[in-house]
Amino acid sequence: MSDFRSFGRRRGRKLRPHQSSLFADFLPQITLKQAGDGLEDPRLDFACPDWPLNLEIGFGGGEYLFQRACLLPQHNFIGAEPYENGVAKLLTLMADRYPQENLKNCNIRLFIDDVRDLLVKIPNNCLARIDIPFPDPWPKARHHRRRLLNAELLKEFCRTLSDDGALCIATDHQGYLEAILVLMQQFPEFQWQAQSAENWRKPWYGIHTRYAEKALQAGRQGYYLNFRFKRSVPLAS
Ligand SMILES: C[S@@+](CC[C@H](N)C(=O)[O-])C[C@H]1O[C@@H](n2cnc3c(N)ncnc32)[C@H](O)[C@@H]1O
Repeated sequence: MSDFRSFGRRRGRKLRPHQSSLFADFLPQITLKQAGDGLEDPRLDFACPDWPLNLEIGFGGGEYLFQRACLLPQHNFIGAEPYENGVAKLLTLMADRYPQENLKNCNIRLFIDDVRDLLVKIPNNCLARIDIPFPDPWPKARHHRRRLLNAELLKEFCRTLSDDGALCIATDHQGYLEAILVLMQQFPEFQWQAQSAENWRKPWYGIHTRYAEKALQAGRQGYYLNFRFKRSVPLAS
């Protein structure tokens, strides 16, 4: 995987005592556990998932992840995000909805680090959908190598997505949009679903992320790209 870090800070302002206690007590109960080269979780059977398994990359404050998980109780969700202050926001929402006695119903698992370290542990063919709402655009030319989306990552998506799975990427940055569309042309397994401008203008599930709100306030349009994944060559077993 790329040596360049695609995220900025891991920490912002100091966590409040309540947030620190959520990190200490609540987070370990919903953290995806690593087992050898793979992952282990009693709720998620990676080999044969009972429920559709969704991955969200860079969930920020987790508003979109949380609302989707509430809307779709028959799905499981994995969220990856290294920025602790964002994670703290999501933990606050989750701890209210899933007090200890209700924790068994929690359909979200978290990975508090670089998603690239998680993807290599995810088995073949098991993700129903990958969402990447507003990845950092790294607008300066000298920072383009830090952009998350590249051919290496796309190969990992091709390995981990199940046939007919979905890849959803949003951006408000014209230059990144163009780079993403050029990149996707190298991967004919992904078919862009847009039939009209209506399709790429509408936020998924009607939910605006925090970053999308900021973009709208600054007068920037969000582009919501939906790709359907069709496996062209069976994976070697
Ligand atoms: C521009 S913010 C968008 C946050 C949120 N998705 C939203 O729309 O409000 C991009 C987020 O992606 C996260 N990120 C960047 N690289 C990442 C990586 N390799 N793995 C996981 N998260 C990453 C950053 O920490 C940051 O929170």
